[in-house]
Order: sequence, then C-alpha cells, then structure tokens
Amino acid sequence: MKKGFVFDLDGVITDTAKLHYIAWKDLAAALDIEIDLAFNEQLKGVSRMESLDKILAHGGKKDDFSIAQKETLAEEKNKHYVELLQALGPQDLLPGFKEFLNAAKEKQVPCVIASASKNAPFILKKLEVFDAFDAIVDPDELTKGKPDPEIFIRAADTIHIAPEEAVGFEDAQAGIEGIKACGMFAVGVETTEPLYQADLRVKQLSELTVDELLEK
Ligand code: G6P
Ligand code: MG
Repeated sequence: MKKGFVFDLDGVITDTAKLHYIAWKDLAAALDIEIDLAFNEQLKGVSRMESLDKILAHGGKKDDFSIAQKETLAEEKNKHYVELLQALGPQDLLPGFKEFLNAAKEKQVPCVIASASKNAPFILKKLEVFDAFDAIVDPDELTKGKPDPEIFIRAADTIHIAPEEAVGFEDAQAGIEGIKACGMFAVGVETTEPLYQADLRVKQLSELTVDELLEK
C-alpha cells in the first residue's frame, strides 16, 4: 500500500524540455557549438550547470571556460529560458495530469515535487497547481543530482513516509534509476525513448488511476 506521490516536473507535469532546448541551442550556437534534439535527450533531468558542462564537452570546449564564465553562461541561458516560460499557463499541463492530481487530493494523498529545476516554484505557479503540492524539494539543498536517489529520499522524507511507501513519476532514465535506487515504485512517463527499469510505463497519466497505484 502506497502513501504518497513524488513527481518530477519537466516531462511529467508539463513539457518544458522544448523551452530548455531553445535556450540551450541559442547559447550553444553563440559558442559555435551545435546541438540537436537527440543530444537534448541527454539533458533531461540534468541540472543547469551539468547541462552546460555536457554541451561544452560535446563541442570540444570543456576546458575553455573558468567557473565564473560558466556561471555567467548558465545565467544567460536561464534568463532566456525564464523569458520563454512567461507564456506558460494551465493549458500547458500534460494530458491527464490535472485529473490525476485532483484525484490524489480528493483521497488526501500527499504530493511532492522532486525536480532538479530551480524554476520549479515559478513554473508550478504559472501552471496554477502550486498550492496542490505539499512540498517542493529545494535542489539547492542537495549534494548529488539524479541518478543519485538523494532527491527522492528527501521528497519522501518531507511528507514523512519511507521511499518504499511512495510512487515516483519520471520521464528521464536518470530519474527512474534514482527512484529505483531508493526502493520507490517507479512510473515511467515515456515520450520518445523507452525507459528501462520502470515498474510501469505509460505515455500519459490518464492511463493510470490513483487507486491502482496506492495498491502497489
Ligand atoms: C530539469 C530538466 C533539465 C534542467 C534542470 C534544471 O531536471 O529536466 O533539463 O536542466 O531541471 O533546470 P533549471 O530550471 O534549474 O535550469
Ligand atoms: Mg523530467
């Protein structure tokens, strides 16, 4: 019997991956680095600085910038990304998510956000679902990124349940690995790439009911 739900944000609640992609692609182009959608898959679930490192490595420019320069580049990308987020609204919730969340709330199942995004609170407010969550894990308080399970352990902790008592929802392979590494039940929300190790794989949350997951 499960007692709580832990949600990734990008790719599970809303599709901001394409906005991250636009902002990264522009920044990369300014550095003479080309990235495509296939490469973008590798950035899913990966923190801002780690994403920048991957892009620089991809362009053979891994050692060309100081930490301070990289921070400026990451800030620049984020400024562009936040501009793109301004148009976000409830219409951008992924199919089935709002219904699933409402059903969870009706049954008083605690829901928490486990996303590497520092923009998560802002995005949730734009989507008009911020108040429905019992907690949002602050990525600034973590020492390791996904696939380390730290963020998921912290998420379960904030709603006072053990990881084994939670169901985690993820669209990134690194996220599924983190969920499984702490004994949580993993729901993989698949878009293009297949997700390995997930206990259940769906295209969208409308394929699931709250009751069936609580019974897992
Ligand atoms: C999520 C996304 C990543 C993004 C990361 C950090 O995990 O899947 O693509 O890089 O959040 O987002 P931020 O909004 O803090 O730059
Ligand atoms: Mg994601």
